[in-house]
Amino acid sequence: MSMIPGIRNGLQARREAVDGELRRLLPAGPSSLHEAVRYAVLSGGKRFRPLLLLCAGEGFGADGAELLPFGCAVELIHNYSLVHDDLPSMDNDDFRRGLPSCHKAYGEAVALLAGDGLLNLAFEVMADAPAPGGRPDRKERAIREIGRASGSRGMILGQWMDICIPAADMTAAVFEEIMRLKTGALITAAVKAGAILAGASDPALEALEEYGRHVGQAFQIRDDIMDAGAGAGKKASGPNCVHFYGREESVRSLREHVEAAAAALRRVPCAIPELECLASDLALR
Ligand code: IPE
Ligand code: IPE
Ligand code: MG
Ligand code: MG
Repeated sequence: MSMIPGIRNGLQARREAVDGELRRLLPAGPSSLHEAVRYAVLSGGKRFRPLLLLCAGEGFGADGAELLPFGCAVELIHNYSLVHDDLPSMDNDDFRRGLPSCHKAYGEAVALLAGDGLLNLAFEVMADAPAPGGRPDRKERAIREIGRASGSRGMILGQWMDICIPAADMTAAVFEEIMRLKTGALITAAVKAGAILAGASDPALEALEEYGRHVGQAFQIRDDIMDAGAGAGKKASGPNCVHFYGREESVRSLREHVEAAAAALRRVPCAIPELECLASDLALR
């Protein structure tokens, strides 16, 4: 789909707003802990999840500035998960976003603590934020959604499965569940939290949940395809879609999830072209 430049400019403006707010929110004390925290978050990153939250919420009429702390909170959770994901006891990755991973730059103990700090900060930021639209009930529901999705029945469970399930037990159903939890849960929660904060109806939230589920699967399949093409070093261990299904099948599945995300979006009562753009950009061209 050809995108009007206005949509891309709008996405870029939101990305910059998120970066500015993150810079402001992150602690900046003279310690290697705070340095590591800032390093982990301010080292690039597409800010995909805050964009989902902001665009979904604004699409349903909420004010972007009021949504911003919640978008940042989701990004803080995402960044903590990356710091921990790269640790030697997890994926043992030396690089993240083209730079030494947090534990390579600051050591394992400091990276572990930096991740812990980011996770706590996320909930502090949401607690501090004024309720968008003056609706504390929506704020409470959004925080619950994000907390559940990133917790040990959501993203963390997915990470556990990714690390702990032996390759011999890896069926297609298990594999799909890992992607749904480790990557899809937070992505889906971001979309839904934005819409919840804006007061979207339950049927709209269901459609957005389906959108989020397909975007999450597409996102992880794409990441796996790119990792598999990245050469030695990246993802030597752990389940990867390309190793499991093969490249051709992975590319086909990616395309199907992108199409299914667009179809789910058509069931949402208001047009949100930004969400369409974010999904269609996942397709490999
Ligand atoms: C990478 O996420 C990890 C996955 C869940 C696949 P992103 O691709 O969103 O990472 P950044 O934040 O843009 O670096
Ligand atoms: C990361 O998945 C998922 C989370 C951090 C929750 P991967 O391990 O597949 O992502 P990359 O390839 O390291 O970014
Ligand atoms: Mg991993
Ligand atoms: Mg990893």
